[in-house]
Amino acid sequence: MSYIAVLPGDGIGAEVINESLKVLNAVEQISGKKYEIRKGDVGGGAYDKYGDPLPSQTMELIENCNSVLFGAVGGPKWDNLDPELRPEMGILKIRKKLDLYANLRPVKIFDSLKESSPLKYQLLEDVEILIIRELTSGLYFGEPKTTYNDSSERSAVDTMFYKESEITRILELAFKISQSNKLKLTSVDKANVLETSRLWRKIADELSVNYPDVQCNHMLVDNAAMQLITNPKQFNVIVSENTFGDILTDEASVLSSSLGMLPSASISFIPGESNLNKKSLYEPIHGSAPDIAGLGIANPIGMILSTAMMFEYSYNEKEISKIITDSVEKVINDGLRTKDITDSGKFCSTSEMGDAIYNQILLLG
Ligand code: IPM
Ligand code: MG
Repeated sequence: MSYIAVLPGDGIGAEVINESLKVLNAVEQISGKKYEIRKGDVGGGAYDKYGDPLPSQTMELIENCNSVLFGAVGGPKWDNLDPELRPEMGILKIRKKLDLYANLRPVKIFDSLKESSPLKYQLLEDVEILIIRELTSGLYFGEPKTTYNDSSERSAVDTMFYKESEITRILELAFKISQSNKLKLTSVDKANVLETSRLWRKIADELSVNYPDVQCNHMLVDNAAMQLITNPKQFNVIVSENTFGDILTDEASVLSSSLGMLPSASISFIPGESNLNKKSLYEPIHGSAPDIAGLGIANPIGMILSTAMMFEYSYNEKEISKIITDSVEKVINDGLRTKDITDSGKFCSTSEMGDAIYNQILLLG
């Protein structure tokens, strides 16, 4: 039996995760395997209930599961809480506690959605990019990190800190993924200004000697932000530190037409190597979208594709993962659209999209 911790979180988190539960149900039917779901509280909702965005019950539940499906956290209601109590601490603490240092964010563009992207159709031809984001260090976690009074005025500090070992492991993972898929690797940094980036670039150069078959180049992050939308075709695999990766992936989602489309896997092992006893977390890259929460119009595809990634990385079920991805593609190619991926004014609800994908999985399985 496999145990999955399901943490819907806030805003549209619960709505999109419901559609993933349908997908799990369909997978059980076609595979004959059982996946036991254990639901827990996280984020603002958990704070309201327990005074803690990551209550000990939830952490315990995660400890007893093989993988985590995560919706989204945050919302205006909790914006003025102490930093330690903010909903976002729920996800940041899980990433840190499970040492999920690698966040894989594939940017896939479905043919029939090319016309929905604000970018020119021709720019998107043959674009498929994997963005690998370092997830447990950098500005998000460096100390000191505080707001304080400095004689006459308020000041604040965040710290961009990286250890050699933290840089080495994420770059090694990126080199290995690029090598096994024969892909070009672009390491994104700000080495013209930042010390952490200079160390990052040096380590990348040192490591590249061990991967002579991987074509690796460096790109400054400001340039990369521009190149991502002017010439996305040049990229295969991009690896970057935590904050740059956060920003670049929201930008890259525009290529696929909407932020609601992109999934992610947060892992602590090199894909293809042993993942025994390693817990991984799967979440869409979008947030809790409080402005549309409860309306039933959120796009569940980022969440459903994250579920597909779970089958690939946590359960080594590549076939199942492909059936889910193919089902999403089929439904999209058949013309079904949530509000975020159409201008036509004609769109389906979150649950209609989930139902269509569920039915398609049963057909393909
Ligand atoms: C993401 C989100 C999170 C992040 C927030 C919710 C803390 O933006 O997963 O990209 O910044 O990592
Ligand atoms: Mg983000």
